[in-house]
Amino acid sequence: MRAQVGIIGAGPAGMFLAHLLHAAGIKVVVLEQRDRAYVEGRVRAGVLEQTTVQLMHRLGIGARVAREGLVHAGTTLCVDGEPFHVDFADLTDGGAVTVYGQSEVMKDLNLAADDRGIRIIYGAANVTLDGLDGDHPAVSWTKGKTMRRLACDFVVGCDGYHGVSRASIPADQLKTFERVYPFGWLGILADVPPCNHELIYANHQRGFALASMRSPTRSRCYLQCAADDRVDEWSDERFWDEFSERIGASFTARIVRGPSFEKSIAPLRSFVCETMRWGRLFLAGDAAHIVPPTGAKGMNLAAADVIVLGEAFAAWYGAGDSSGLEDYPRRALDRIWKAERFSWWLTNLTHRFPHMDVFDRHMQIAELSYLKRSRAAQTAFAENYVGLPLDF
Ligand code: APR
Ligand code: PHB
Repeated sequence: MRAQVGIIGAGPAGMFLAHLLHAAGIKVVVLEQRDRAYVEGRVRAGVLEQTTVQLMHRLGIGARVAREGLVHAGTTLCVDGEPFHVDFADLTDGGAVTVYGQSEVMKDLNLAADDRGIRIIYGAANVTLDGLDGDHPAVSWTKGKTMRRLACDFVVGCDGYHGVSRASIPADQLKTFERVYPFGWLGILADVPPCNHELIYANHQRGFALASMRSPTRSRCYLQCAADDRVDEWSDERFWDEFSERIGASFTARIVRGPSFEKSIAPLRSFVCETMRWGRLFLAGDAAHIVPPTGAKGMNLAAADVIVLGEAFAAWYGAGDSSGLEDYPRRALDRIWKAERFSWWLTNLTHRFPHMDVFDRHMQIAELSYLKRSRAAQTAFAENYVGLPLDF
C-alpha cells in the first residue's frame, strides 16, 4: 500500500489532519488501533476555541456545530461560594467559546471522511514505524493474522500520549518536559439540566469543582479528587453532595440531581515533547503534549498543530517548499507553551494542593480577588480562554 502521508491515530489530531491534507490533494491513509465506535464514544472535554470552530467550517463539517453547539460568551468563577462573572465578549471584542463534545466532533469528522473516501484502517494492531531517518519511511501493522505495510513519504504520529510514534524516536534525541499534579478529576455525565447557563469554575477549600454541560439537558460535572481515588468509592449521591457544597450556595438550589451514565477519574499532567520532528516523522496533538484539563485546551491544541502542519505539507507538495516543514516544531511549540502556561496557571489558581499552607491559600484568594476587580487581569484570562489567534 502507498500514501504520501501515513497518519497514526484517528483521534482529533489525526482526523483533522487527514481532512486538511485530503483537501490539499495529498493522499493519506490513517491507521487506528481501536474501532470507530470506541473513538467516537470516548468522553473527553467539550469546549471549542473559535480557531477550532473555524477549522470545522473551513473543512465543510461545521453545519452541526453551528446548529447544536452552545456559544458561551462568558464564564463564572467562584471562590469559597462567592461567584463573579467574566464577560469574554466584552473583554475580547466579541470572543466566545462553543460547547460541543469531542465525541460529536469525531462523528462529524468521520461522516465526512466516509463521504470523501478518506481511508481509515481501524483495528490496526502492532503498528511499527521504520525508515524514519531515511527517504523511504514505512508503517507496518497486523490485522487478524495478516501483516500489512504502508510505504509513504512522511509519517505523522497523532497517536496520543501512549502511542508508538514518539516511542519510535531514539531516547537520546527526545527533549521532554513534564509535571504531574498530585490529584485527579472525577467527571460524570448525567441527563439533567446544567445548574447555570455557562460554565462555573469553583475554587473551594475542599477542592476544585467545575460545572459544565453538553446540551441544555445534559450536564458534565467534575470534582477534584485524590489521585488514587477509585470510581467505586464515589456513589452518585456522594458526588452530588460534594459538588453542591463546592459549587457554592448561589447555584446549589439550581442543581438537579440525576443518575450518572458515565463516571471516570482522569490524572492531571503537563507534558511537552519538543522533538516534534525526527527525520520523516512528525508528532501532533497528545503524542507531543498533554495539558491538564483545566481550561479545555487539549483538543484545541491538537487542531492548531495540524493547521500548521497541514499548511507545511501543502507548501511542500504544491511548490516543493520545505521551509514550513522545517519550521513546524518552532511554530507549533510557540503556541503549545502558551497553552501549557494557561492550563498550569488556571490549575494552580483553582485547585487545592496537598501541601498548601495558609500563605498559599491567601495567595490564591488574593489573585482571584484581583481577577474579580481588574479588567486587565480579566482580559488576560479571557483572551487565553477563548483562544489566542494562530501565531499570536
Ligand atoms: N497504533 C495506532 N493507533 C494508536 C496507537 C497505535 N500504537 N496508539 C494510540 N492510537 C490511537 C488511539 O486509539 C487514539 O484513537 O491514536 C488516537 C489518539 O487520539 P487522542 O488520544 O484523542 O489524541 P489526539 O488526537 O492528539 O487528541 C488530542 O483530544 O482525546 C483528546 O485528551 C485528548 O484533548 C486531547 C485531544
Ligand atoms: C468539559 O466540559 O468537559 C470541560 C469544560 C471545561 C474545562 C474542562 C472540561 O475546562
